[in-house]
Amino acid sequence: MDKKCLFSENIVKIGPESGYDNYIMAIESSCDETACAIVKNGREVIANVVASQIKTHEKFGGVIPEIAAREHLDSINIVVQEAFEQANMNPQDITAFAGTVGPGLVGCLLVGLNAAKTLALVHDKPFIGVNHLNAHLCANYIDTDVKPPFMALLVSGGHTQIIDVESYSKQTILGETIDDAVGEAYDKVARLIGLPYPGGPRLDKLAQLGNPLAFELPISKVGGYDFSFSGLKTAVLRLVKSFNGQELPTNDICASFQECVSKTLVKKLKKAVEERGYKQIVIAGGVAANSEIRRKVFELEKEGYKVNAPAMKYCTDNASMVASCAYFNTNTFDDIDVEVFSRV
Ligand SMILES: Nc1ncnc2c1ncn2[C@@H]1O[C@H](COP(=O)(O)OP(=O)(O)OP(=O)(O)O)[C@@H](O)[C@H]1O
Ligand SMILES: [Mg+2]
Repeated sequence: MDKKCLFSENIVKIGPESGYDNYIMAIESSCDETACAIVKNGREVIANVVASQIKTHEKFGGVIPEIAAREHLDSINIVVQEAFEQANMNPQDITAFAGTVGPGLVGCLLVGLNAAKTLALVHDKPFIGVNHLNAHLCANYIDTDVKPPFMALLVSGGHTQIIDVESYSKQTILGETIDDAVGEAYDKVARLIGLPYPGGPRLDKLAQLGNPLAFELPISKVGGYDFSFSGLKTAVLRLVKSFNGQELPTNDICASFQECVSKTLVKKLKKAVEERGYKQIVIAGGVAANSEIRRKVFELEKEGYKVNAPAMKYCTDNASMVASCAYFNTNTFDDIDVEVFSRV
C-alpha cells in the first residue's frame, strides 16, 4: 500500500508487500489509557507503553471524560518518549505514524490523534488513522501467524460483535448488541454487588470461586447474531434485592452471571462459524481477557477449530494493536484532515 509523506509527498510503501521492514509507531487514547507502541511488520512488538488512569477514575466509579482528556495531555509526551527509549530508536527510524481516530471519547481521541499527526508532519512520514475496533481484532496478529479468513468475537467495554473477517481489509459485522456491551454489563453488575471500578476483572476473579449453577439467570432470546444484556443485568438487580440487605452470596452471583454471559456468546459464535464454514476463530477486546469466555472458546478446539486470543496485555486498550492495524491496512484513513468520531 502506497502512503504519502506529509511534507515532501514522497511515497512510502507500507504493509506485507513493501519489501522491507516497517516500523510503525502508534498512539492510542480513546478512553482511559494513554498508550504508545512501535511494532515491526505488524506482528513484532519493539516497544509497548501504557499509562493507565484507573487510579484517577476509581474514586468516581467510572471514567469522567473531561478528566480523562486532561490526563492524556499530561501523559502523551512521556509515553512517546518512553516508547522511543524502549525501542532504542529515533523518529527517523519510523516508517509511519498511526493514531486511533474513533470510536471513543472525543476529547481523549483528539489528544492522541493530534500527537500522531504532528509526529508524522514534523518528521515527514506518512500518517495512518486507525479504527479502534479494527485495532482490537488486529491484536490477534501480534506474536502469531494468524491470517484471515476467520470468525471473530469482539467483546469490549463499548462493543459486542460477531465479525466475519474474510481478508485483512474485508470484514462484515454479522451481529451486535442491541443494548449494553458485555464489558458494560460486567461493570454495571460489579457495581450492583459493590465491587470497585473497573468491575469486570474483579467480577471474573470472584466468579472463579463460586458455583456457576447456583442461580438460573435468563438467556436473552434476541434473534440472529445479535445480543442483549440489559435483561440479564435487571435479573441480577432483582436477585440482589431479594436478599433484603442480608449478606450476598457474591461469588455464586458472579459465577452464575459469568456462566450466562459466556454461554450466550459462545453459542452464537459457534453458530456463525458453522454457518460460514470457517475453521478459524479469534476473540478480541478487553473482555477477551475473561477466564471463562476464553475457556469456553478454546474448548471449541476439541471440535477441530483453530482458536486464537491475544495475550492479556493486548486484549485491553494498547497501541501495539493500533500499529498492527495500520500495517495490515485494515480499513485505515490516511487523510491528515480526518476527524475523530465518538461512535460507529
Ligand atoms: N477478566 C475480565 N472479565 C470481564 N471483563 C473484563 C475483564 N478484563 C477487562 N474487562 C472489561 O473490559 C472492558 C475494557 O475493555 P476495552 O479496553 O477493550 O474497552 P473500551 O476500550 O473501553 O471499549 P471499546 O473498545 O468498545 O471502545 C471493561 O468493561 C472491563 O471491565
Ligand atoms: Mg477498547
